[in-house]
Amino acid sequence: MPTDLLAAHPMPVSLSRSRRPVPLLSAALLLAGSGAVHLAVVPEHLEEYLPFGVFFAVVGAVQVVAGVVTFVRPTRRWQVGAASAQVLLVALWWVSRTTGLPVGPEPWSPEPVGVADVVCVLLEIVSAAVLLGLVLGGPRPRRRRRVWTPLGALAVAFVVGAATFVGVGTGLSGMPVAVSANPPGAGPGGTPVTALVASPGPQPVKAFTLTARPATIGGHVAFTYDGTVPGPLLRVTQGDRLRVTLVNHLPVATTLHWHGVRVPGAEDGVAGITQDAVAPGASFTYEFVAADAGTFWYHSHQDTGNQIPAGLFGALVVDPPAGPPAPDVDRVVMLHDAIDGSSAVAVDGTTGDLHVDARPGQTVRLRIVDAIAPGMDGTAETPVLLGAPYRVVALDGHDLNAPSLLGPQRVQLGMGQRADLVFTMPAAGAVRLVDSRTAGSPSALQRFFGPPARAGETVTIGDGAPPPAVDAAALPVFDPLSYGAPAPDPTTRPADLTAPVVLAEGPGFHDGSVQLVHSINGAASPDVPPLVVHTGQLVGLHLVNDTGEFHPMHLHGHVMTVLSVDGRAPQGSPLHLDTVLLAPHQTVDVAFPADNPGIWMLHCHVLLHAAMGMSMTIDYAGVTTPFTMGSRSGNIPE
Ligand code: C2O
Ligand code: CU
Repeated sequence: MPTDLLAAHPMPVSLSRSRRPVPLLSAALLLAGSGAVHLAVVPEHLEEYLPFGVFFAVVGAVQVVAGVVTFVRPTRRWQVGAASAQVLLVALWWVSRTTGLPVGPEPWSPEPVGVADVVCVLLEIVSAAVLLGLVLGGPRPRRRRRVWTPLGALAVAFVVGAATFVGVGTGLSGMPVAVSANPPGAGPGGTPVTALVASPGPQPVKAFTLTARPATIGGHVAFTYDGTVPGPLLRVTQGDRLRVTLVNHLPVATTLHWHGVRVPGAEDGVAGITQDAVAPGASFTYEFVAADAGTFWYHSHQDTGNQIPAGLFGALVVDPPAGPPAPDVDRVVMLHDAIDGSSAVAVDGTTGDLHVDARPGQTVRLRIVDAIAPGMDGTAETPVLLGAPYRVVALDGHDLNAPSLLGPQRVQLGMGQRADLVFTMPAAGAVRLVDSRTAGSPSALQRFFGPPARAGETVTIGDGAPPPAVDAAALPVFDPLSYGAPAPDPTTRPADLTAPVVLAEGPGFHDGSVQLVHSINGAASPDVPPLVVHTGQLVGLHLVNDTGEFHPMHLHGHVMTVLSVDGRAPQGSPLHLDTVLLAPHQTVDVAFPADNPGIWMLHCHVLLHAAMGMSMTIDYAGVTTPFTMGSRSGNIPE
């Protein structure tokens, strides 16, 4: 056949496709893309409610097939039908997100809007618009230059492909319906964590009630314990039996966690692991014996990333029953986020300067608690004491051995950590605690948005002229590794097992959104395999920070001994911590005796990092939890 004849009689492809290949391809890809997102959420919905899972499987499969048909046989009737079906699905989504559907696990309750469903609905809306455009637009009036067609097709494929990738990725990584902190394969039997309570005894009972409730403070609504931020100071004597009732008058569920306190397994206050979060209107009583003296704190361990900055925290001080004479002035200073939503830092509810009374010659103990939720780089606070030489007598509530006098230094504290400073008031003038900060290596993005806000919060102790201001950034950083004097420590024997805990971060999908996923050993919570230990073991943790951020790693229910930091062992006092600060790219080795059966969290106390996956559990063999985390129970410990 002569070639000119071929040109005159093209292959009988459909009118629309030959005339408008780019819109047709777009419609086909958009349809198939929305189908792919629906298929991605099938497993989650199957677990939640079988009919929904089946519905999404059918809809997703039909949409994918419809995409193919649209490209191969794009008749007008088909296009109208497919567009109408897409519009119907969008309408159904709208109802499910506003009034709620009449069927399902929770009829008539609107579902939360997520990234995957928004992407899917956008794909559906645009696909319907393109299909209707094809129907109404009719044949293309004039020929365009050929080069635009492949380019247009490529652009469309790229944009729709990217949207589908995000939709599928977030759909597959949605919040789990119900996930357990039990080690995989843990069968029935064993000791439920709820059975691990304080055994009865003759200890003096100190009873407290903390009512969690909203309160307006300075024109802003805070979540509080008993109407104040921080919550009331709980002060007891070592060996006392604490009985603390949490009454929840918040509109949301909450818990109480005893940070740094070696409580029995059932009293740890972690939603979804040691209890169900306490529902609005309900209450829960915690009971434990204060085994260690020192500075501790308590806070919510449900939706921590929101509830702590909202105000749900306070200090717990355990005094030794006897010992060296108490200081004349003994004061907790909690550093925390101002509740006005600004980036300001507050000290004990005060932004600006907090005044503490003290007279010349008196001894003062400041118990500094870092409760500030830092930004993405995990910025550590570095308070500086000016105007008097001082000793760092305790870190994380545990006494240091033979602490020597220090001049002005920056004492680095990650969120959750505590430092107790003791000094004598000078004959004249005030002493001042000035907060400063050390930021991690900011990413390009963080540099673009500017450095984290600097705050000038201070605590002034005593009257008279304050000490002259200094450039805090130029001061040396306090080095706990070469402070005080060595002392025998039982945890320096070789560990029975040593587990790597490698901290990393990178973009990915987590909890149904696109995040800077923060991982431990290559996985993000709740998928980080637990570390299983046996009672009586000495457990080593080899913590490696593969990021440019700070990570204060907190272990519940235990005290860790620092073995080395970047290979350097402590030269001075033994260091006993519940929260170990890892500076960017630092490696820290610790060990702890497994002497408190339970299921215990090990997580970064940068609340953002924990929520983005930097959290795992240490499970005692034979202990199981009946609780689950996820959307079904509403337990979200992070
Ligand atoms: Cu301060 Cu897991 O907590
Ligand atoms: Cu972190």
